[in-house]
Amino acid sequence: MCGIVGYIGNNDCSDILLDGLTKLEYRGYDSAGIALLNKGIITRYRANGKLRNLKKVIYSVKNVEGSIGIAHTRWATHGIPSEKNAHPHNSENFVIVHNGIIENYRELKSFMIENGTKISSDTDSEMIVHLIEYYYKKNLNFENAVIKTIKKLEGAYAVLVISKLEEKLIAFKKDSPMIIGLSDEGTYVASDVPAILSYTNKFIYLNDGDLVIITKSDMKITDFELSPKEYNIKTLNISPLMAEKGEYKHFMLKEINEQSRSVADTFRGRILKGGDELDLDISNLDSFIKNDLQKIVITACGTSWHSGLIGKYLIESIARIPVEVDYASEYRYRNPILDKNTLVIPISQSGETADTLAAVKMAKKEDSKILSICNVFNSSIPRESDAVLYTYAGPEIGVASTKAFTTQMSVILLLALYFKKVKTSVLDKKILEGALLLPENINKILKTSEYIFTLSQKYHLYSDFLYLGRGLNFPIALEGALKLKEISYIHAEAYPAGEMKHGPIALIDENMPTFIIVTDGNNYDKVLSNLQEIKARKGKVIAIATEGNKEIKDFCDDVIFVPKTLNLLEPFLNVIPMQLFSYFVADIKGTDVDQPRNLAKSVTVE
Ligand code: AGP
Repeated sequence: MCGIVGYIGNNDCSDILLDGLTKLEYRGYDSAGIALLNKGIITRYRANGKLRNLKKVIYSVKNVEGSIGIAHTRWATHGIPSEKNAHPHNSENFVIVHNGIIENYRELKSFMIENGTKISSDTDSEMIVHLIEYYYKKNLNFENAVIKTIKKLEGAYAVLVISKLEEKLIAFKKDSPMIIGLSDEGTYVASDVPAILSYTNKFIYLNDGDLVIITKSDMKITDFELSPKEYNIKTLNISPLMAEKGEYKHFMLKEINEQSRSVADTFRGRILKGGDELDLDISNLDSFIKNDLQKIVITACGTSWHSGLIGKYLIESIARIPVEVDYASEYRYRNPILDKNTLVIPISQSGETADTLAAVKMAKKEDSKILSICNVFNSSIPRESDAVLYTYAGPEIGVASTKAFTTQMSVILLLALYFKKVKTSVLDKKILEGALLLPENINKILKTSEYIFTLSQKYHLYSDFLYLGRGLNFPIALEGALKLKEISYIHAEAYPAGEMKHGPIALIDENMPTFIIVTDGNNYDKVLSNLQEIKARKGKVIAIATEGNKEIKDFCDDVIFVPKTLNLLEPFLNVIPMQLFSYFVADIKGTDVDQPRNLAKSVTVE
């Protein structure tokens, strides 16, 4: 999730571009750069690390001029954070910045190398500018060279291009956000409103298939036949902070609603050819997985530990490899059995959790292989690992983890399928096809937010909740309980539904509602019996059930329906209503939803 900013107008724009990148800081980044066109010369300034490093580079140069420019903050996906991988990327006559993932960049890279192009970075994005140069040199003009390039790209992209041959900025997008800002001083293009809100409040939200061609005197939007397209100009009267949250009251609500995109982004470039291929870019572990791997240990804290439990069910069910899951704070002190045939998988959104990092260092001392799952590029835990699988959730600002959790599950699902493929050469394509439907199914549940809000109004005064689920839904019950307690401060605990008879059912009466997952997959009939036992003791029940279940309403007080999916994929959907319910209850109670009391986003101390 990178940030892009562009400008073309009457003013020198280096400060406009740097200010825009600063306002996109919440999107996270590990390197940054700008390119300016001045009198037929394009000058690039790039720096690794924080934006202040780029500012240092630019402010150390005299006469930084140019009234046409593009800029980029990078959230690395292909190629480590470094100056050479930082955008903008250039060819002889063009410079581009890109937000997204080019899924077919390997084919494009081979094509460019065969045509004698010198590749200077490890990124997928660089292939875009070389393609534009290639087609330009086939006697196409700027616009048609761009259009020809677009038709070769597969994946997600928001791209800005400038040329040293003419004073023009071209922009295009697919599955990545881009907006235009209009003012008398010039025209702005950016990933998001906050980047340019200081300069205008007149915006055009671009759509896939739009080609934007901007000069100092004109801005037009066309299709790929260069036929003009209609567009609406929106006037926004909002504060910069409100702009970062978009139309959402809290970052947590924004991040819950981003999960369709973040799960899709995490699958992108890994599930290929509609589910026929799987590529995780960890082939350096293949021989170990095939010949030596005997046990997997997943270690994490909090929500990440819940995704670890999901990992146990998925990896053991799909790949038939034994998996232990341990709280990192326990694992690091219990003198565990570790050896060179053990693969340790630390899961961490921040990559900085002290207990998880300590567990990793302990495992390394025992020569265990480390494969980390993390959301922050090049953070401490990935740096200690033999291999890393990143979640592409983008920065998670809300302390309560939501999109990081579902993207962790996304990575784990692919990892389970990958282990099986390496060990048996069999790829479970049916599961991959089901996974590709998850973003759409998550969206369907997000559309039931208003109904879930009414449930939070009905239940927010209770002081205790029980969360129940079986099989893969038990870790989801744990996650639902954690969400409620950490943001609304209401006591909640979770159990495997089958555990009720062994004590917890003594808690049930009309003052203790139960949130129970009774979807079609994991032991439906048995969970339904548990539900009936609760009702028989006057307990109130909110059920999560599968669409089309005609009987469930007769057995409980309230039902939230989720789309039907494969049993193994139910956790991705069943957690969404619980996230929303917790958020609305907390918001009604007026707690500090994004920064709950006593909590920190990353627990970097024991
Ligand atoms: C989850 O909502 C909490 N914020 C917390 O449990 C968190 O998951 C835990 O601290 C682990 O953090 P990490 O994923 O950054 O390692």
